[in-house]
Formats: sequence, structure tokens, C-alpha cells
Amino acid sequence: MAKKAPERITITAALPYTNGPIHIGHLAGVYVPADIYARYQRLQGKDVAFICGSDEHGVAIPMKAKKEGVSPKEIIDKYHGIIKRSFQDFGISFDNYSRTSAKIHHETASDFFKKLYEQGDFIEETTAQLYDEEAQQFLADRFVTGTCPRCGYHEAYGDQCENCGSSLNATDLINPKSTLTGAIPTLKKTKHWFLPLDRYQGFLKKWILEGHKTDWKPNVYGQCKSWIEEGLKPRAVTRDLDWGIPVPVPEAEGKVLYVWFDAPIGYISSTKEWAEREGIDWEPYWKDKDTKLLHFIGKDNIVFHCIIFPSMLKAHGDFVLPENVPANEFLNLEGNKLSTSKNWAVWLHEYLEEFPNMQDVLRYTLTANAPETKDNDFTWKDFQARNNNELVAIFGNFVNRALVLTQKYYDGIIPGPSEFREIDHEVLDTLRQFPARISDSLERYRFREASQELMQLARLGNKYLADEEPWKLIKTDEQRTKTVMFVALQIATALAVLCEPFLPFTAKKLKALLHLEPVQGNETDEKPPGWSDISTSDILLPANHQINKSELLFRKIEDSEIEKQLQKLNATKQANQAAKTSLEPQKTTITFEDFTKMDLRVGTIVAAEKMPKADKLLVLQVDTGLDTRTIVSGIAQSFTPEEILGKQVTVLVNLAPRKLRGVESQGMILMTENEKGKLVFVNPDETGVTKGESIN
Ligand code: MF3
Ligand code: ZN
Repeated sequence: MAKKAPERITITAALPYTNGPIHIGHLAGVYVPADIYARYQRLQGKDVAFICGSDEHGVAIPMKAKKEGVSPKEIIDKYHGIIKRSFQDFGISFDNYSRTSAKIHHETASDFFKKLYEQGDFIEETTAQLYDEEAQQFLADRFVTGTCPRCGYHEAYGDQCENCGSSLNATDLINPKSTLTGAIPTLKKTKHWFLPLDRYQGFLKKWILEGHKTDWKPNVYGQCKSWIEEGLKPRAVTRDLDWGIPVPVPEAEGKVLYVWFDAPIGYISSTKEWAEREGIDWEPYWKDKDTKLLHFIGKDNIVFHCIIFPSMLKAHGDFVLPENVPANEFLNLEGNKLSTSKNWAVWLHEYLEEFPNMQDVLRYTLTANAPETKDNDFTWKDFQARNNNELVAIFGNFVNRALVLTQKYYDGIIPGPSEFREIDHEVLDTLRQFPARISDSLERYRFREASQELMQLARLGNKYLADEEPWKLIKTDEQRTKTVMFVALQIATALAVLCEPFLPFTAKKLKALLHLEPVQGNETDEKPPGWSDISTSDILLPANHQINKSELLFRKIEDSEIEKQLQKLNATKQANQAAKTSLEPQKTTITFEDFTKMDLRVGTIVAAEKMPKADKLLVLQVDTGLDTRTIVSGIAQSFTPEEILGKQVTVLVNLAPRKLRGVESQGMILMTENEKGKLVFVNPDETGVTKGESIN
């Protein structure tokens, strides 16, 4: 009988933009769940292609390049390298990580467009589009912001509103404004190719609304439903830009493919690149009707993966459609939205500098607290608690006790059990249920739940040891101790196998400690147990098997380490605040004549006291050289009278006198904020002018 081929699963993870490094939000929302799923399916013996790459087109790239004064190519090379490295560092087990600047991608995307073009699937239309006269450029996507016509959000982009997730056309925006120059755009005619999404309305309705009502996540299904019911409109898939894949038809000189047209095709090109390297055929991974295609994405990508890309695939004709699109919500950081531009993030490369070799701790924390059904908050305190109370106190503690005692009592050789008692049978039976329990959660994309099931298994082991107390038993009943240790080691072995999707580095280490993986120079013939063995075999780790010296799997995280991270965030907050204050918009222009009307003099504060019953005001006597006059100044919260006595200050002496709390103020002392946001005098000490001299 021919062996049935394993089920084929193509798993894609959203291609990250290469306009910055990646942070915990990316990991939590997309890459950790996708990786858990891919690793899990490989352990089931499935034929998995786990595909990703860098998204290197779109306007974010040239914008960033302009800001840094370098070429777009330099930007994509830099961040492609950093991002790829971060994925490797965190054990994201892509079968291939490509990039959309690759030749194979340009070809694949061009061919895709050409096929649709030749089949007559596009509408060709010359329409008026937003145009920035100053920058001499058409404005689409991120080049234009305005008010969202659906939700009223003021900073919606030309292709999408990040507040309500709507996909938009730039001309839909109310009060549009160029992000390049701030100019109000004009309208200018230009020709583009549109994908008539309205023609796919019926297909989408049947496929999603009727076909995936129960198996797609409610947030994903709900978004699709509202778009489809609202009615879909044709969408331009070309742009007037000079960064991107040239539109491969002669009449489209100077135009490129819309980034959201080319990027998802990147999943296909990346699969091709992988298959070529492996010497296998890529087509079944995208075209065999039995292939299960899954897109892991964040919620802002739903419309592109559920509506636009499937319509493209459907138009093309040869491809399978995604079976599921398990999109996550967003992760926040300490109560605020993660933001690359505001540097409000935990960057993966920086995390590893602070917490070397602790990838699994972050993976675990982000999974246990994943933004699966609603936005969620990452806090450093929670990170510390998950580590100290779960990974260290439960998982690590159990494994360590089991391994250390085995070394101590039996020199690392698994003891043969004597008769099992009721409790042993119970524990081993429960153990056998864990693969199914974890699978159940994972098959429904419930990663948080699955990670907690895993922790339950460690709890089972911890409790078993605490109840049976082998460290006491050893003194009274050596036979019973052997049985207890044997059972505990079966649990530790199950943990090593089942934790692999979640904690791949820990799994590797634990397998090495248990001597499950062949160690160099000490190869064994024993085949390590797999996922299904946990529930089917009686013995996972046989008596007489030799394990290795024990080592700790996790370490405690101290308060001081958390403090340091919080301080770092605080510094970011302050820097942002300062940047904001120093960026007060400029006031309207004044003439030189206006300026010369001010009579500015250098004076000395010769007396200072608090204004009674006013907590902001000081009453000063200032020797201006002309006279000594009274000036009331609102600086009492920044300075004490004592500390400013004798200070040289700049005084505007011809300001119209004004009564404050019954005291006439005859002038104004000039103040400003320094770079730290602290109020300081406009200090004439170093200007070389002497008292009373005019300084303008
Ligand atoms: N670069 C996009 C983002 O970060 C995701 C692209 S996903 C793909 O939001 F489908 F286009 F590849
Ligand atoms: Zn909106």
C-alpha cells in the first residue's frame, strides 16, 4: 500500500517593512504565533513551508531614506540585515526569508500583473488624483493624510485608516494634506490600472461570509463582513512613483506597482526561492487544492489578506485561497501604542543585549499575554513575573529538582521503577492527555491557552514531587524513591518535547540535559520520543538511560533589571516631550521694525520676594541702569527669591506697565527653556554687555 503523503501546509508571516528594526509588537502579533504553529505542525510530521521576507517597496522606504540623507537601497540593505538577524536570534524558523528587491520577486510580480492585464482583469482609467504642486508629485498612500470618511480619525493615510482599519483611496480623505510639504493637494489627471474589487463581491461573500463564519476569528470575520456589506470599489494597483517594481506594460512608463500588489506576491516568490534551493517543486505549495494556506498577520493587514490578495489569486486562477487568516490585535507597551518613530518600543536587538540568551523568556511572555482577541499591554513587571513565577518557579524548578536528584542518587542513570501506585498511574495518564490538549488550542490558533496548558504540565510535575517528597523518601524507602524519580523523569521528557514550539532554545537545552539528542562523540541509537509518543508510549525515558549533568534552564530576573528598563522608557518619554516642546510651531512673521520697538536692557536683580497669597509670582526689584524698578514675574515655581538675588537678566523695559495683584509691573524679564525643558534666564553674563546697555 502506498504511504499517504503528509498534509502540506504553507504558512506565511507578514513581510515586515524594511524602514526600521523590529520590536516586541511584531513578534507578539505575527512571528511568534506563526513560528509556534510552524514548529508544531512540523512535529506532527506535516510538510510545512514557513515563508517570509522583507517588504522593500512602498513609500515608507524612500521617505526614511530622505530623512537619513541616504539612498533607498542603503535603507533596505541595512534593515533587511538587522531584521533577518533578529528573526534568527529569536528562533523564528522560516524555511525561507527573502526580500522583495530580489530578482525572482520582480519577475514573479511582473508576470502576475501581466497575466491579469492580458486576461483583461484590470480597468484602465485616467482619473484626477491628489497632487502636490510643491513637491511635483502625486500623493497616495503614506504621502497624504486626512480625515477618515468612515470614523472621522484625523490622521488617516491615503490607503488606510489605522484607527478603524478601513482601506481607503487617497481621494476619499476629507481635508487631505501632503506629508511631504504640508501642502493642500490639487487634483491632476493620471492613468492607472484598477482591480475591480466590486466584481469579486459575490465570490468573497460566498467564500468568507458563508464559508468561514465559524472557523475564522471573530475580529477577522467581522472586518471582512463590514467591508463586503458596505460594497467594494475598484482599487488602483499602480502608482506614480520611482521606487518599486515598474509596471510591465509599455504605456505605463514611470509608474510602479502598488506596494500592496507586489508584497503579498512576495510570499510566492519566497516559496519559489526556497524550492529552487531545496531542489523541489514550489507549485504544490500554492496550487495543490489540498494545500492548507495560512496567513499570519496583524490586524491592520486584514483587508489586504482577506479581500485584495484573494481577489488577485482568484483572478489569476491557478492558486489556492487561504484557509485561515489568524490576525492578531495590537500590543501596547506600558500603556502606550508602540511606535517606531517615537522610539516607544522594545527593540529585539537591544533586548538581547540586556538579556542575553533569554529569547525564550520573551517568546513565552509575549505568548502568554498575546493580543489575540483584544489589544494587550506589555509591561516589564509582567515580564518579570512571568519569568520568576512561571518559568523559574514552576518549569525550571521542577526540571532542576528531577535532574539534580537523579544525579545525586543514581549518578544520572534513570532508575528502574518498582510497582506503580494509584497516584503514579494518575499522573502518567494525565501526562498522556497533554499533546491533545495543546494541539486542540493550537489548531484553533489559541496560543495563549496552549502556552498555559504547557505550564500546567510543569505544574503537574512540580506538584507530584512536592507531594511525594523523594528527598525524604530516600531515607526510608529506596524502591519507592526510584519509582517516583522514574515518573518525574517521564514528565521532564514530555516537557522537553512539548515545549519545543514555544520555547525552542529551552527544548534544545533540556533535550541535551536529558541526553535525548545525540551528543557529539556520544551518539546513542535510541530515537528520541516525538509529539505523538507522549500519548502513546508507556515509557518515554527508559531505565538505565544515562543523562547529563544538570544546568539551570532559567534564571531569576532582579528588580534592578526591570528598574533599568523602566528608566530607559522614561528617558524616551522625556526626550519625546522635549522634542515636542522645542518643536512649537513658529509664530507669524514680524518685521524688523516690529523687533526694534523692543527696548531690551541688561539688569541686575537687587531684591526678590514672594507675592503674598500667589504661588506663582515673585516681586523683583531690578536695577536696569536707568532706574531700579519693580517687575512682577511668574517664576516662583521654578526659583526661590534667594537663588536669583544678584542675577544678571535681560529686561524688556518698554513693555506697557500692568498691575498684578495690586502691584504695578514695569517691564518683563526674558526667560526661555533649556534643552531639558527647565526654565532659565536669557542670560546676558556671557554677552559682554554691561549693565543698562541696550542689546538690540
Ligand atoms: N509590510 C507590511 C506591514 O508591515 C506587511 C506586508 S504583508 C504582505 O504592514 F502580504 F504584503 F506581504
Ligand atoms: Zn477610520
